[in-house]
Amino acid sequence: MAKSKTYDVKDLKLAGEGKRRILWADHFMPVLAQVRERFARETPLAGKRMSACLHVTAETANLCRALIAGGADLVLCASNPLSTQDDVAASLVKDFGMKVYAVRGEGRKTYYDHIAAACRHSPAVTMDDGADLVNALHGPFADCAGNIIASMEETTTGVIRLRAMAQAGVLKFPVIAVNDAATKHLFDNRYGTGQSTTDGIIRATDILLAGTNVVVVGYGWCGRGVSSRMRGAGANVIVCEVDPIRALEAAMDGFRVMPMKEAAKAGDLFVTVTGDVNVIDSPHFRLMKDGAIVCNSGHFNVELNLEALRKLARKVNVGVRNNVDEYVLAGGRRIFVLGEGRLVNLACAEGHPASVMDMSFATQALTTEYAVGSAGRLDVRVHEVPRSIDDLVATLKLKSMGIRIDTLTAEQKNYLASFDQGT
Ligand SMILES: NC(=O)c1ccc[n+]([C@@H]2O[C@H](COP(=O)([O-])OP(=O)(O)OC[C@H]3O[C@@H](n4cnc5c(N)ncnc54)[C@H](O)[C@@H]3O)[C@@H](O)[C@H]2O)c1
Repeated sequence: MAKSKTYDVKDLKLAGEGKRRILWADHFMPVLAQVRERFARETPLAGKRMSACLHVTAETANLCRALIAGGADLVLCASNPLSTQDDVAASLVKDFGMKVYAVRGEGRKTYYDHIAAACRHSPAVTMDDGADLVNALHGPFADCAGNIIASMEETTTGVIRLRAMAQAGVLKFPVIAVNDAATKHLFDNRYGTGQSTTDGIIRATDILLAGTNVVVVGYGWCGRGVSSRMRGAGANVIVCEVDPIRALEAAMDGFRVMPMKEAAKAGDLFVTVTGDVNVIDSPHFRLMKDGAIVCNSGHFNVELNLEALRKLARKVNVGVRNNVDEYVLAGGRRIFVLGEGRLVNLACAEGHPASVMDMSFATQALTTEYAVGSAGRLDVRVHEVPRSIDDLVATLKLKSMGIRIDTLTAEQKNYLASFDQGT
């Protein structure tokens, strides 16, 4: 890709369909729309150079619209080579005048060239989904990081990486853990991943989930969501965990819990949602039934050890169905891998439904406004999203759903704040 290019998308002729998709998502993002309208009036991000490395989907496009309405000069690149919706990327360039660098299926070199373009924009604010942009701004593009006010991080794995950088004393600018906001992980990771992962698996395979043994690896926010949606579809869910408290929670939620080596023999379908590396590895692939299906909805493409599976395989039949590769092992046993082991909800479906991204991205936009308003006052560490932003997003979402709630009386407030009443 030429360094001077102001965008790199698959085909601008796809813009019409992309715009329809963006506007459809917008119907289900009323909180973000309100933020966009206020941003347009108040322009809190006026003149701020921003770079975002996110899944390039219709919901992300609506976040971009809000940031641009707020006055940001924004560059967008993909946070995953298989999650880009090419029509959306085209529409962002053609209809919204944005600088977008994202092509679905882009190779490793292009993926990093696109991140390089986002770095060369010399942003004052960045947004990440997995900390790849922040990493580049600490490594090969450290010279582009001089003006950074703060960086927003969207996902669990990114936050873990950033905390490790802060702990090691190498973090160079303040970051805000948007993932850790209640209005993000409680809803997006749980209900968003739960539904869209199930959707991706069904679109890729068309299997019947009822009666299927589904092994969910990791019982965090995503794992809870996937397990409950799979149970809702009639699957027999087995959970694998390494954390005793989460394993206990899974057991008391009514799921079977066992080590991966046992689950490997029982599962028809495996879903990893750990954020960890090689959680399904060679010893597990060796134990799986003929026809087992494996996929990942956790981090990037690292949770399934596909290199090990490739070594075990006598033959790999790529694309036996859209987004399905068949690994044929000794004796003819077959294992099917979905979406090349990348996030199955984005590679094989459309990512989270807009209604849940409404909250995540309203929180992102409002946190960006907060970061810009706090320029120079945030110290270099991982910050929490202010509670007031969480409360505002939840209140607006409830309102948009037509749900009203009670408020504390003065007597109740007093009681809850005291230690000498009611004992
Ligand atoms: N697919 C998506 O759209 C999407 C959305 C949100 C988050 N994520 C990603 O999903 C991953 C999980 O997110 P989360 O919020 O549920 O995190 P979490 O920290 O709440 O849960 C992860 C769980 O995995 C467990 N775990 C770690 N290693 C394990 C192993 N070897 N075997 C079994 N269990 C193991 C941990 O003990 C933990 O309970 C992260 O990488 C996150 O970035 C993906």
